[in-house]
Amino acid sequence: MTVHVIADNPSKASALSAIVEQRHVVTSEMLAGASIKRSGIEAAVVAVDVADVDNISALKAVSGKLARIPKRIFLIDGKGRLAIVQAYALGATDVMTSPVDPAQLLAKLAPVEAPLIAPDQIPPGSLEAASAGAASIASMFAAVMNGTAVDVADVRNAGSRIADSVAENGLSDWLTTVRRHHEGTYQHCLLVTGVAVDFGISLGFGRVDLERLYSAAMFHDIGKARIPLAVLDKPGKLDDAERALIQMHPVVGFDVLQGNAAISPEILDAVRHHHEYLDGSGYPDALCAESIADIVRVLTISDIFAALIEHRTYKPTMPREKAYEILQGMHGKLEMPLVEAFRDVALNR
Ligand SMILES: [Fe+2]
Ligand SMILES: [Fe+2]
Repeated sequence: MTVHVIADNPSKASALSAIVEQRHVVTSEMLAGASIKRSGIEAAVVAVDVADVDNISALKAVSGKLARIPKRIFLIDGKGRLAIVQAYALGATDVMTSPVDPAQLLAKLAPVEAPLIAPDQIPPGSLEAASAGAASIASMFAAVMNGTAVDVADVRNAGSRIADSVAENGLSDWLTTVRRHHEGTYQHCLLVTGVAVDFGISLGFGRVDLERLYSAAMFHDIGKARIPLAVLDKPGKLDDAERALIQMHPVVGFDVLQGNAAISPEILDAVRHHHEYLDGSGYPDALCAESIADIVRVLTISDIFAALIEHRTYKPTMPREKAYEILQGMHGKLEMPLVEAFRDVALNR
């Protein structure tokens, strides 16, 4: 395929072109004066400092043309979450940090994992809905980190686009798109939202209930914004202290959203209780069955399933069948008739 490299200095451009041309046809240009004239470009690699005001206006000037390229990988310096937010706001579909690992960049451009459907069959709508969703989750996390108010309407709006995409293109398409283009916590939240929406649709939820469900799914892990990325994205086993830190996220999320008038009590409840189990073995409040609301039960099943089928660079992706078997084995913890109702969503949709 043809990959277009855009950089803010010639040495970045040549280093990246050297990597990409191992597998693809490469064109490149400097951001200052970029025009993206060529047609037929399938992916762009944008390596610019997104905190620089001149770069921001130069990117905005070509944003229309950039948006026509289906895959837009931004390389940013360091692990700063604000730079990630900025990259998504400027049109990224994927964000990677510099210095980039050549193998990872090539894998990102053309995943080796056998696609469930061919890339040219992915409707552009799902790609755009996934990018909008990631941008919204990124801004929500940035607001929590900065101590500013979360824009609830924006999150709901992104959730609604995800719901439209899942309703129109199906869950499998959503899972493929998100796993191919997004990583870590953003990937997880996007997967949970898509799975929950499809589960809600299959259960015959009306518009109001569905809206409540996808909003709860978008917000459910908001407390993770306060947990260091080193712990959150740690490959492999967590130690006790790290696990205890992660297990604080439902309460942190609840505290962050509690004062926000636009958040309903049902959503607040779902954020706090999505890790509770019917037998009282969950956290943070060790609730028992009768205290766990229906929407929370739906969200918990969607959350566990989505976490199991997540795509991570360091391990193979678990097949949906295996993930569903694990849910079926969670007797006492999950509502089994609901797990049974989830079968079609998990395996076929
Ligand atoms: Fe969670
Ligand atoms: Fe989660």
